[in-house]
Amino acid sequence: MASRRRLLGRLAGAAGLAGLAGCSQFRGTGDRATPLDLPENPNADLPSRQHAWNAVSRSDRHGNPQLPRHHLVLLLDLAESPSVETAERAERAMRTLESAYDWSSDGLLHSITWGTRYFERVGELDSAPVRRPQVLSRTDDPELLEFDAALVLASDAVSNLRATEAAMFGARDSLAGESVDARLGDAFDVAERRTGFRGAGLPLEHTDAEGVPENPPLSEGDRMFMGFKSGLQGTQASEDRVTIDSGAYAGGTTMHVSHLRQSLGKWFEAFDADERVARMFSPEFSADDVAGFTDDVPFSDDVTRHAREFDVVGHQEKVAQTRKDGEPVLLRRDFNTVDGGHAGVHFLSLQRSLSEFESTRKAMNGWYVRDDSPEITDRENNGILNFVTVRSRANFYVPPREKRAFPRL
Ligand code: HEM
Repeated sequence: MASRRRLLGRLAGAAGLAGLAGCSQFRGTGDRATPLDLPENPNADLPSRQHAWNAVSRSDRHGNPQLPRHHLVLLLDLAESPSVETAERAERAMRTLESAYDWSSDGLLHSITWGTRYFERVGELDSAPVRRPQVLSRTDDPELLEFDAALVLASDAVSNLRATEAAMFGARDSLAGESVDARLGDAFDVAERRTGFRGAGLPLEHTDAEGVPENPPLSEGDRMFMGFKSGLQGTQASEDRVTIDSGAYAGGTTMHVSHLRQSLGKWFEAFDADERVARMFSPEFSADDVAGFTDDVPFSDDVTRHAREFDVVGHQEKVAQTRKDGEPVLLRRDFNTVDGGHAGVHFLSLQRSLSEFESTRKAMNGWYVRDDSPEITDRENNGILNFVTVRSRANFYVPPREKRAFPRL
């Protein structure tokens, strides 16, 4: 991995030589001024939305879409100035992934997304639907990261992720029988990698990570380190709901990626199953109630009363405060990780507007119930806040497939 300083040096050099840094040539004034000189995409049957994963995902027996089991997010810095030629190579590289693998959990789900650094470079940060990440709680001091782009990859086969990374950023010259003649690595350097998993048995395979106590009460069926099912249909925004519906960025969505570190000693050792349910969902539920949830969480929407009556409030009931017309506004595609040897979550969420992520995260802080119970502090008895620390945040725009290469260039 190249150091950020070296990359910035290279980039500044390249931009300077070409006389392009900050040049108005990069200021998009509508759709791409110069269309890419490429033949029609042979994979034209794929959905326009890069974030349309649900229809091709496995579902559980209640119809809840299941994320692929393995995830890799490559956070990218541009190594050369944006140009139409670079965009053409990036588009050809993405088409190689599409031709190599089925658009499915067995094959590969992917999206190329664009960060605040990129939009600043092309002079569009003010009009783009992304903005720099912010500190969103008074107990966390995350790194506020900025990248040019992120390649999001997910598959049930971890080998597909490794092969894709080697083809896009290494020297691998064929991918599942497709020859690789354009790589994202021609234009980008990998600044950081985020790896992880979501699925039955996977947390149990990683209990040696820091932050997980000895012999946690996790079973083969558990899909997440904290031991609950997540992503029930009724608690997720639909792909339609998160899609930007008008303007230059229509058809795309926004993506927030944060890294949360988990410390689960007390979670498993100080609390029994019902106490964990109170903190994850709401004190109105028992562990048996939660075991019976199928595709929704039938919460009573009474956080303040719960704070007064039980001196504890749940994560789900707090974040559900930002639903609009009863519908959630975030489509969560988060996954567990042991990056850095420590248990955690890469919280990846899609939403029409990043302000919806920010208001949901503020609802998770639970400041509004602090006066209702002296037992509820910034972290204690306040959902799952006592067990997570936010390490970093970054924001991206996810364009529709046909505009995915260097949008607004
Ligand atoms: C360690 C980190 C986290 C874990 C283990 C976790 C777990 C869960 C679980 C188990 C649920 C309820 C069941 C379901 O998803 O169907 C839920 C709901 C939800 N979570 Fe989280 N979560 C985490 C972090 C976050 C963060 C950082 C946010 C965003 C600010 C968030 C936003 C939501 C939302 C919006 C819902 C659905 C609320 C509704 O029903 O409307 N979660 N989460």
